[in-house]
Order: sequence, then C-alpha cells, then structure tokens
Amino acid sequence: MRPAWSALEKHYCEIKDVHLKQLFAENPERGERLSVEAAGLYLDYSKNRITDETLSLLLRLAAESGLREHIDAMFRGDKINASESRAVLHVALRAPRGTSIIHDGRNVVPDVHAVLDKMADFANRVRGGAWKGHTGRRIRNVINIGIGGSDLGPVMAYQALRHYSDRSLTFHFVSNIDGTDFAEAVKGLDPAETLFIVSSKTFTTLETMTNARTARDWLLSGLNRDESAIARHFVAVSTNALEVAKFGIDTTNMFGFWDWVGGRYSLDSAIGLSTMVAIGPENFRAMLDGFHAVDEHFRTAPFERNLPVLMGLLAIWYNNFFGAQTAAVLPYEQYLNRFPAYLQQLTMESNGKHVTLDGTRVDYDTSPIYWGEPGTNGQHSFYQLIHQGTRLIPCDFIAFAKTLNPLGAHHDMLVANVFAQAEALAFGKSETQMRAEGIQDRLVPHRLFEGNRPSNTLLLDSLTPDTLGRLVALYEHSVFTQGAIWGIDSFDQWGVELGKALAQQIIPQLESTTEPELQHDSSTNALIRRYRKLKGIV
Ligand code: F6P
Repeated sequence: MRPAWSALEKHYCEIKDVHLKQLFAENPERGERLSVEAAGLYLDYSKNRITDETLSLLLRLAAESGLREHIDAMFRGDKINASESRAVLHVALRAPRGTSIIHDGRNVVPDVHAVLDKMADFANRVRGGAWKGHTGRRIRNVINIGIGGSDLGPVMAYQALRHYSDRSLTFHFVSNIDGTDFAEAVKGLDPAETLFIVSSKTFTTLETMTNARTARDWLLSGLNRDESAIARHFVAVSTNALEVAKFGIDTTNMFGFWDWVGGRYSLDSAIGLSTMVAIGPENFRAMLDGFHAVDEHFRTAPFERNLPVLMGLLAIWYNNFFGAQTAAVLPYEQYLNRFPAYLQQLTMESNGKHVTLDGTRVDYDTSPIYWGEPGTNGQHSFYQLIHQGTRLIPCDFIAFAKTLNPLGAHHDMLVANVFAQAEALAFGKSETQMRAEGIQDRLVPHRLFEGNRPSNTLLLDSLTPDTLGRLVALYEHSVFTQGAIWGIDSFDQWGVELGKALAQQIIPQLESTTEPELQHDSSTNALIRRYRKLKGIV
C-alpha cells in the first residue's frame, strides 16, 4: 500500500466526523481559499470535507502514484492503453494546426486537421444547400446512427449547443437496437431530404449496423429503390474503410479517425460530424480550442492548482475513504440535459475495472456510479435522498452566470437554487434552529438536515462551444487522474464483450423456426422458450 494511502486512511478516521460548519467557522476565508480559477473555469471546492492536510496527503498520493509520469506518457503517445496496446491521444484531436504530437514516429496533427478540413467542407455544403439529395432537394434532416461513444458525445453536444445550431435543419440520433428508436426518428421525414451519418469506430457494432441497414431500406423504399441514392444520403465516420466500403458507402464519403481515439473520447474527432453540421465549423473549432485550453492546463499546471487533478483526487477521497458508492452530476442548465448520460460512459466505461494494468485484482473500489439530471428538476425528485438519506453522495453542481435564453427572472431563480442546494447540503439545519422556529418536538427529527454533505460548484460564464469543450476536457482528465491513482487501464472496455457475444448466440435461437437446442442455464433457457411461445413460434 502506498504510504500516502495509509496516511489518508488514518487521516480519514481523524476527520470523518468534522462538520463543514466547523471547517468554515475556523477559516472564514475558506470559500475563496479553496477555489481555483484556471483555464476559463471556476471551481469552488470549499464545501468538501477536507482540510489542508487532506489536500496535501491527496497530492502526495498523486505523486506516489506517478500521476505526472502518466500524464507525460499520454501526451507523448505512449501505449498507455496496455491491454489493447494502443496510444491514447484524444488530446491530438484538438491540437492547434501547426503543433506536433507524435504517434509511432509520425506527427498526427496534420492528419487530424486534414479530416477537420474535410468535415468543414462537407458541413458547409450541407448547411449551405450545395450538398443535395438524390432528387436534387436540399438536405433538411440529419440522422446520426451510432451507439456508445458514437452516439452519446454527438447527442450530448448537439443538445448542449442547440442554441448555436442551424434551425433550418433537424437533427436526430438513433442508437438503440430497439426498432422503435429508428421508427420514431424517421416519422414524418422525407427520405429525399434526409442524410444519414453512420458513426462507428469499428463499423461492426450490432446496433449501428442493424440501424444503418434499416435506414438504407427506408431510404431506398422512398426513392424507387435506386441504389445510386446511397451516395447522396449516407456518409460514414469510422476507422474501418473496408467495412464502410462493404456496407456500400463510397469511401470518399467517409471521415476517418484512428485507433488511438477511444469511443468515449471521440466526440471531438470525426464522430462529431453531426455536431459540426449543426453548429458550423467555426463553432466546432471553438469547442476544440476549449478542450485544448484544458489539455494544456492539465499538462502544465501544478497539481495543487490543477482543476482535473483536484476533482479527480476529491473523487478518490470520497470513493475510497468515505466509501461513497455514487456521485451526482447536477448541471443547472437545460441544454446540458444529456451531460450526465454522456459522463456515465466516460467515467464508468473508463474506470469500472477490477484489475490493475498488470492484471492483478484490485483490493479497493474503482469508479463510483455517476448519475444525475439537470436542476432544478432533480430537486423535486431525488434530492430528498441526497439531503436526508443514509448515503453520502458527493455532488458536482454546474452553473452558468449568463443564460442563453433571458426570460424575466428565470435565470436568477435557477442560479439561486444551485447556490441554495450546495449551502443546504453543506450546512444543513440544526435542532436548535428548528426549535427556535417553534417546530413541534415530534417533527424535529423529520425536519432535521444534518448537513456535512459535500459538493463542488463549477461556475462558468455561459454555455458556448468553447466552455463545453472545457467542461468535457475537465471531466476527461479527472477520469484520467482517478484511473492513474487506481493503477487501472482507463482506456479499454472488455466488460462489454461477454454480453455482446452471448446475444449473438441467442439471436438465432429466438429467430429459429424450429425448436433450437438450448444449452444455457435453466433460467435463460426458460426465458428463451417463453419468449418464443409468446411470439407464437411454438
Ligand atoms: O460497447 C462499447 C463500445 O465499444 C464503446 O466503447 C463504443 O463507444 C461503442 O461500443 C460503439 O462502438 P463503435 O463506435 O465501434 O460502433
């Protein structure tokens, strides 16, 4: 065990009962002192159950875990995704033109910009109407077909940046293998005005390929089954040119990326094509610049002023020492309504691991469960549990000083609620306060707010492509920090494979017109038989 880890365990026992009220009373400047403004972001982390000693021990843990070396290795293009022998270079996707990041002896930045230029040309043609559908009509609807990182990033960014999007185009995102997803997305759409972007790193993913085939059928049946229509209505985003060509998409209509971009880190690669079509190449570039600013901050800032490092260390503090099982992400910004879902893949697919890089079983917890909803809606649903339940749930509140839709007093009310929630969680409401208010004795326990519930508050200027890039990069690097400390591979995802393989066995068993020979466990066998019966096959 690392010395800083044992020191933190000991320190936890000393401060676990210390109340935030006391920490604030002892240090009236705490609210300003425990905050960092850097890389265009402002983080108030004063409402965390930490002292100066906690911070210095956490920083020692980062040093003992080799976090600096890990960061350098990522930016150097080392194959830090050990189980897949791959480099992890999403930072190259947002590197400015003219800079250099080397992968296998080659500067990849010019390659990145060549794809960005091709995307920009395409996006401009669709937006300007120069790219026409098969019958000569303008494209009015764009449908991204993808799943996981090839869906969550695009849909989150589209929703987040909708304010900046071209409203003469509609955007839809089809991910689920459930046919309802596709059926509802195309309802009322005219195939002659619809463009599909098939987004898949591998171009073999069951859901995406099934939806893409269904899309092709839908399109062709609306366009007299003229196969030559495909070229005007389908483009692909992938690393796999062979499979793209096999599907029937001309590879000149393919936008590439590379095996050193993980699916959940691919929003700023060509996977962001739908986002670029929606908001335009300049706004997309501004988003990439936001990412890059935080990359540089992460790479160069001293750890005690390094936002992703601090957020990562705080996450470790609650996860591994307080035993918190979950963490809530609560954006007070309606446009960020898919941000928690996006973060779920980023955090849990990255750090939901049970072995270290060398394959040894960990004897500590790795990623907490991330969840959340935009505020204030969550306040009228699950916040009860955060305030008075029995579990400790560290929260990240995200708020913006300026709204994109000024409507009377709405925004002040929204922001007042974020501040109020963080205050209520931290300081609670004591018995003494309640008695002073004349609350009946029998109600006092029910109405008691113990407080001492930790949170971060991120207060940003306004939601722009640039700030979105900064926010996403902040979480990406916080996830990296946590993974480095746990010593795990944050960039593979073997845990998704077994279910995929079993589904491939079960599909023909559900479809077969003759009784299949079933060799699953008795529960799975019974479910398959029952499904077949309900479906009316037997
Ligand atoms: O199932 C998990 C996963 O591999 C994710 O990591 C990835 O984002 C998603 O599937 C989609 O993969 P692809 O882009 O290759 O279709």
